Amino acid sequence: MTPFNPKPYAARRARLLKQLKDAGGGIAIIPTSPEAPRNRDAHYPYRHDSYSYYLSGFTEPEAVIVLIAGKKVATSILFCRAKHEEREIWDGFRHGPQAARTTFAFDQAYAVEEFDARLPSLLGGAPNLFYSMGFDAAFDERVVKALNAVRGMARSGMNAPEAIRDARALIDAMRLVKDKHEIDTMRRAGAISTEAHKRAMRTAKPGAYEYEVEAELLHEFRRQGSEYPAYTSIVAAGANACVLHYVSNDQKMKDGDLLLIDAGCELNSYASDITRTFPVNGKFSGPQRDLYQIVLDAQAAAIAKTKPGVPFNVPHEAAVKVLAQGMVDVGLLKGSVDAAIEQGNKREGGYFRFYMHRTGHWLGLDVHDAGDYKHGDKWLPLAPGNMVTVEPGIYVRPARNVPKHFWNIGIRIEDDALVTAKGCDIITSECPKTVADIEAWMAG
Ligand code: GLY
Ligand code: MN
Ligand code: MN
Repeated sequence: MTPFNPKPYAARRARLLKQLKDAGGGIAIIPTSPEAPRNRDAHYPYRHDSYSYYLSGFTEPEAVIVLIAGKKVATSILFCRAKHEEREIWDGFRHGPQAARTTFAFDQAYAVEEFDARLPSLLGGAPNLFYSMGFDAAFDERVVKALNAVRGMARSGMNAPEAIRDARALIDAMRLVKDKHEIDTMRRAGAISTEAHKRAMRTAKPGAYEYEVEAELLHEFRRQGSEYPAYTSIVAAGANACVLHYVSNDQKMKDGDLLLIDAGCELNSYASDITRTFPVNGKFSGPQRDLYQIVLDAQAAAIAKTKPGVPFNVPHEAAVKVLAQGMVDVGLLKGSVDAAIEQGNKREGGYFRFYMHRTGHWLGLDVHDAGDYKHGDKWLPLAPGNMVTVEPGIYVRPARNVPKHFWNIGIRIEDDALVTAKGCDIITSECPKTVADIEAWMAG
């Protein structure tokens, strides 16, 4: 394993501290996620909080980052679990406060057991408290208790922060533009997920179960060092592909089915997010090919619009245009393309009937990553360093006025795009995608 490099995280803390100072200064408190019990003594796999990770690279539970943005000083403090011989025998290695300073480059570090006792004096005299209320009730209570302790010390000259503010918007704006360290990690995550999808294409066959293909995805993720999937994998054969969040993955694949796989690994806390749709028997039928080509063309149109300065919504609108045209051309929709778009989700004749989600989202530490999409009524313009998915689809449920040969076909094609200075770079482009490439890859 390459040694941990604290520099990108320390640089982000420094940038945030500067912004906190410009916002009036004070103290920011960023706790990691609480642990989630599963049943009896079993726990869900622990996943740290993404904001906390972004500013520290630290993945242990219970950690709390405290940033002090004073007039003259900028200090970063990590509260973390103390070294503990017995607990480490049961649960594994803990870094402890000393490594928080040396390995993770914090200015100060303390055992997390000291947090509640130290917090009032850290809060005292701070003009602002930057803390996101409402995400963790138990932690909120600790913060409120410390605040009240400071308020009780008013007569000894200790002032509590006047305002409680949310620093997330500042961090969100930082997270929207990926730095080199993040881009390198996400390229690697995209490459692993690409390998996993290629492996899945060669595993699927009529008579096998969806979960057998899911197992191959997980095998490839883990084999290449990914900690876990970035989200629950969707492996949906035939009609199941028309259930957008299908995750039971327990049905038998039939000859003639398409298989829709939406799966991506998480690597060093960063998500990848790929969807491919391919025929279980290795050959697209005529109707499958017709709809597949429409989705592929829609994705190409959206990718062509994924470039700096373009409002976030424009790639979606480009995809919708191609999809609506295709739906009219093949007889899924009657009437004009303009009407299909204009009616959207308002009428049965709108494209929404067969395409009911949006074409992309920010991607990063979270699969649906942090960051605004709109400011007021204006879509954010794309900027170099943004990572966004491009994922159009068509889903046809059986209905009386829908041509029968399209029934139960569900198709989505999803790639991950890094916005560059001139356009975008599809970091998952090695995953077979055209009809010819998929059929050739499956034929082996
Ligand atoms: N896999 C989640 C999504 O595509 O948005
Ligand atoms: Mn996605
Ligand atoms: Mn996806």
